[in-house]
Amino acid sequence: MILTTTLSDGVFALSANDRRTELFENLWTLPSGVSYNAYVVVDQKCALLDTINSCSGGDIISVVENILDGRNLDYLVLHHLEPDHSTEIDSVIRRYPTVKIVGNKRTFDILRNYFAVKEENLLCVEEGSELSLGSRTLRFLITPWLHWPETMMSFEVSESILFSGDVFGTFGALEGALFDEQTDTDKYGEEMLRYYTNVIGKYNGMVVKSLPKIEATNAKMLCPLHGIIWRTNPGKAIEFYKRWSKLEPVNDAVIVYGSMYGNTAASADYMARRMADGGMRSIKVFDVSKTPISYIITEIWRARCVVLGSCAYNGMVLPTMQSLMDTIAHIPALQCKPLAIFGSSSWNGAGVKTLRCAAENHKWNVIAEPAEIMGFAEAAKMSPFDVLADKIVESAKSC
Ligand code: FEO
Repeated sequence: MILTTTLSDGVFALSANDRRTELFENLWTLPSGVSYNAYVVVDQKCALLDTINSCSGGDIISVVENILDGRNLDYLVLHHLEPDHSTEIDSVIRRYPTVKIVGNKRTFDILRNYFAVKEENLLCVEEGSELSLGSRTLRFLITPWLHWPETMMSFEVSESILFSGDVFGTFGALEGALFDEQTDTDKYGEEMLRYYTNVIGKYNGMVVKSLPKIEATNAKMLCPLHGIIWRTNPGKAIEFYKRWSKLEPVNDAVIVYGSMYGNTAASADYMARRMADGGMRSIKVFDVSKTPISYIITEIWRARCVVLGSCAYNGMVLPTMQSLMDTIAHIPALQCKPLAIFGSSSWNGAGVKTLRCAAENHKWNVIAEPAEIMGFAEAAKMSPFDVLADKIVESAKSC
């Protein structure tokens, strides 16, 4: 069901929840679902800003018809074309065949790959272009790669409302609250960060580039395509993004291991204890075969040091660790974190060798010689892990 909420005179939020989809982008786990927003502005001209994924079970056309109350839809503004927001474009065009589709050059390059649109109905905007709807004006900000190359935002000038696309979005279905003052935003920020690190994290550099422009709007209301609308303290959402885009450490270390029979796991626990005894605080430890990767990526994002360990498996690392390494390879910002490597093996040391090789390929700063155990993790064999743990403690003090 799509719920309609009035944000201001003539400005409406359409919001829907999806608790059925298990994986966002068929990748990222959604234990609490996800929500979608679109917006409608009714003035002398009427505009729909983005659409809502039909998986949410709502019918956006009937909702828009209800708001427009017999009037025509003049504009469909497309801030972002990823299908979670764009699958209903065709329905909108069929219902409102004269609607002008507003986007930038890259929007239309992508749009033509999905829909047969009439060229004469495309209205191309650039950075700073304005679209007058009557008493309201939308000013466009081109924000490429937040999260696709065509991504843009629009700023409603008279009331300082920023329609921000995926930016400031989150995983998690709405639980009643649509506005920031209706929820605990610190708690809410956890899933917002998981969304940020996994969906937008690859383009962190573009976030850094775009944040001053977003901040300069002095928006009084932030309206993303997922999650709550920030109208009481929009500065908090911007502060989140500033902090996250700097990869500011919250925890001293994250240890992630892939272990078949418990020896790499035991080494992880052994090192974690020694690191804690050495003064490190907030050490997070994860079994990569158990914890979904998106949570691990988030913990790596906010750790001071990263410690990765794997047993050997078919001459490589455990495939679940390989999957994590492949995911990290897509997120350059993570490769700036100091890295330590450890593992276990029965005969050839392939786990550690593979991790070391991947680190070299990605030019990770490996802070010390890796530690490895052959066979059982026994007290008599643990001295290389003492040395590595001590080096990690030392390294954490200097970064
Ligand atoms: Fe919510 Fe990049 O789509």
